[in-house]
Amino acid sequence: MDKLVIEGGEPLSGAVRISGAKNACLPILAASLLTDKRCMISNVPDLKDVSTMVDILTSLGRDVARDGDTLEISGGSVKSVTASYELVSTMRASIAVLGPLVARYGEARVSFPGGCVIGPRPIDLHLKGLRALGAEIRIEEGYIIAAAGRLKGSRIYLGGHFGSSVLATANILMAAVLAEGETIIEDAACEPEIADLADFLRAMGADIEGRGTPTIRVRGVRELKGASHAVVPDRIEAGTYMIGAVLTDGRLFLENARAEHNLALIDKLRECGGAVEERAGGLDVYRRADRIRATDITTLTYPGFPTDLQAQMMSLLTLCEGISVVTEKIYPERFIHVSELNRMGSDIILEGSTAIIKGGGRLSGAPVMASDLRASAALVLAGLVADGRTEISRVYHLDRGYEHIEDKLSAVGAKVCRVRE
Ligand code: EPU
Repeated sequence: MDKLVIEGGEPLSGAVRISGAKNACLPILAASLLTDKRCMISNVPDLKDVSTMVDILTSLGRDVARDGDTLEISGGSVKSVTASYELVSTMRASIAVLGPLVARYGEARVSFPGGCVIGPRPIDLHLKGLRALGAEIRIEEGYIIAAAGRLKGSRIYLGGHFGSSVLATANILMAAVLAEGETIIEDAACEPEIADLADFLRAMGADIEGRGTPTIRVRGVRELKGASHAVVPDRIEAGTYMIGAVLTDGRLFLENARAEHNLALIDKLRECGGAVEERAGGLDVYRRADRIRATDITTLTYPGFPTDLQAQMMSLLTLCEGISVVTEKIYPERFIHVSELNRMGSDIILEGSTAIIKGGGRLSGAPVMASDLRASAALVLAGLVADGRTEISRVYHLDRGYEHIEDKLSAVGAKVCRVRE
């Protein structure tokens, strides 16, 4: 397993090109199953999760060819409607093929995804939405087996215990575009990744109104055509580098980053003493104040502060003078990075789903273990600013969601290298 070795203390300075969004790309690739015509998806990041989704499409009978950052997905009918345990168990987002398969082929057999290190991740809202559209669903031998004639439009309230669900909205939206009649999704996820999926579906001929709002209205069509689409820039990758610029007291220009997708983070970075300025083609981010200050954060659904930036922000807060309180409202157990950050010298205690950070100290490099994608990114950021050497093992988590991270960081001055073991 590869390790990342970081010698801390170098400010990040220069330009970083932000890649296409993993979490937009994955459902968009699944949506290609809704048509038997060819689709071209560009600005696709080179990530492990993307290749897992490509493997799923291939296992269903599609040919997928990559040319640079563009994927060409062949037309034709699928040869199988089964997404196997071997593939689904490596990536929860595989559940996104459920809606398209049942809508287009009237049947689907998708392995039931388990929990994961960031806490329980139920799929009740996905199943509730598909049932509301008329699918019959049963669970057998660890698989979700869905069957339907043509799905029928319906009014569906998709809010759950933790608010709206990103992938449940994606699944129901993808199913509804081929359903007979009108579907209204209430408490739909408003994340930019869902808006981007809706844009791809519209390019395929779907009739969708209200993308990016809590009420999405879909008028079903009989069939969809092939389409080309460029994936939206990754706001979580952009946010990670934004935090990195402020944390290391450097200055980064983030090409393609969009301020409107990261308003909650920008607000908090400014409160801490960072500066974020919009420039043509991207964002300029640096530290404005001599001393960086504590702030409080609560993760929420979009446009609130994203859970996918909570761990990275915590690395910054360990350096901010004063006490910061971080409350996790999406995944109450998503704090696995805390013990690793404390190994590097931070002072963080947990009280249920709240972390209390006594900031303002220094971090000291240490061997640490990555446990999930965003926790790994938090450890990389901590390593960049720590005294001495940090070795991060289990780097494969980072490869799931950060395109060429060590190349991008090295190009802006970080001392980071990958050691193959
Ligand atoms: N939830 C339910 N029932 C459901 C579905 C979700 O109770 O049927 C709960 C979840 O347990 C959680 C909350 O609703 O408490 C929100 O989960 P959501 O369904 O929105 O998460 P997701 O769609 O499975 C996507 C991202 C995650 C990101 C979350 C929240 C993708 C591929 N994944 O997951 O990204 O954390 O939304 O924004 O889009 C990551 O990239 O590191 C990552 C984990």
